Amino acid sequence: MTTATTNRQWLLARRPSEAVKPSDFEYQEGPIPTLADGEILVRTIYFSYDASQRIWLTEDGGYMQPIQIGEAMRTVGIGQVVQSLNPEYPIDSLVEGFMAWQDYVVVRADGPMPLRILPVADYPLSWHLGVFGVAGLTAYFGVTDGLKVKPGDTVVISAASGATGSLAGSIARAMGAKIVIGIAGGADKCQWLEEKAGYDATIDYKNDNLTERLSTLCPEGVDAYFDNVGGDMLDTLLLHMAPQGRVLICGAMSSGYTDVQLQGPKNYMRICTHMLTVQGIHLFYYHDRLQEGIEELARLVKENKLYVEENLYEGFEKAPELLPTIFSGKAPGKLVLKVSDPS
Ligand SMILES: NC(=O)c1ccc[n+]([C@@H]2O[C@H](COP(=O)([O-])OP(=O)(O)OC[C@H]3O[C@@H](n4cnc5c(N)ncnc54)[C@H](OP(=O)(O)O)[C@@H]3O)[C@@H](O)[C@H]2O)c1
Repeated sequence: MTTATTNRQWLLARRPSEAVKPSDFEYQEGPIPTLADGEILVRTIYFSYDASQRIWLTEDGGYMQPIQIGEAMRTVGIGQVVQSLNPEYPIDSLVEGFMAWQDYVVVRADGPMPLRILPVADYPLSWHLGVFGVAGLTAYFGVTDGLKVKPGDTVVISAASGATGSLAGSIARAMGAKIVIGIAGGADKCQWLEEKAGYDATIDYKNDNLTERLSTLCPEGVDAYFDNVGGDMLDTLLLHMAPQGRVLICGAMSSGYTDVQLQGPKNYMRICTHMLTVQGIHLFYYHDRLQEGIEELARLVKENKLYVEENLYEGFEKAPELLPTIFSGKAPGKLVLKVSDPS
């Protein structure tokens, strides 16, 4: 039971039409919400930063309800149960799931993803948002189940320094790939990928000629492409796929996610002529396999086969200013904001 009386909140003040800005949100202090049947009151501890938050800010909302003006900004987060009308979520449990940019948030267990009770473990709690959260699980199921990476494959991963890509490379390596190539913006990020994140080679999409580098690094074509970027990069990759290669559509960072309607690839006839397999991935479809993924990721971490990088910020007041950095060149790894301590 909480004795707090103030609930700090960041509400959507206006719907952005282009890049999201901190001024699109306004600060407010509201009351602590009350619960209806089955609901759980959670005190938030960590906020995750994900490109898909920009999709939820569109009129359409994409794959979730759009966030309405005056509503607290939705986020994936970690928090602690302070009141509960659901016996499966006792008070003091640490949980991960959909929350909002506020101190106290009402959550339900019957959303599109399970509200996960987090185990006591010998790694940082915030890793449940990164390597053991959406990023790690998408990387794991994307490489294994989506792309079906196998020994000898030439694998390319875009947005490779991001939360997902920085793990997907090592997972592909663990599956026996012959060479794992990461695409990232800038020499520093490429160096980080090769020195820390286990990539064999990199392409700096801001300074290199993508076509030339792919021809040099993948003379026999790309067997598996993990696409986080879409747009022109996907079009170029389609021209470099090996016959019967596999493409996983995971995201479209190049679009900025300002609209849910995007132009498809121009070179899509390569899918026909090279008999490519193009598959999407969305973690909602793996909701009943999450534990399996977490166990495999934990094994890879334990065997030192995965390098985990977190950019951890602190302070509730920073919530809006961090969101645009997802699209404007954040540091490698998983971006997380700590807003309170567990009790
Ligand atoms: N389908 C799913 O279930 C699912 C789950 C998780 C993530 N995703 C998708 O995966 C992608 C990456 O998300 P994340 O959380 O791993 O990354 P993140 O940590 O949020 O970082 C964003 C990444 O995107 C890159 N980027 C930004 N703008 C770009 C542009 N115009 N062209 C090329 N790269 C750009 C940035 O690197 P540079 O500095 O190198 O540009 C950075 O590495 C997103 O598209 C996201 O929607 C999908």
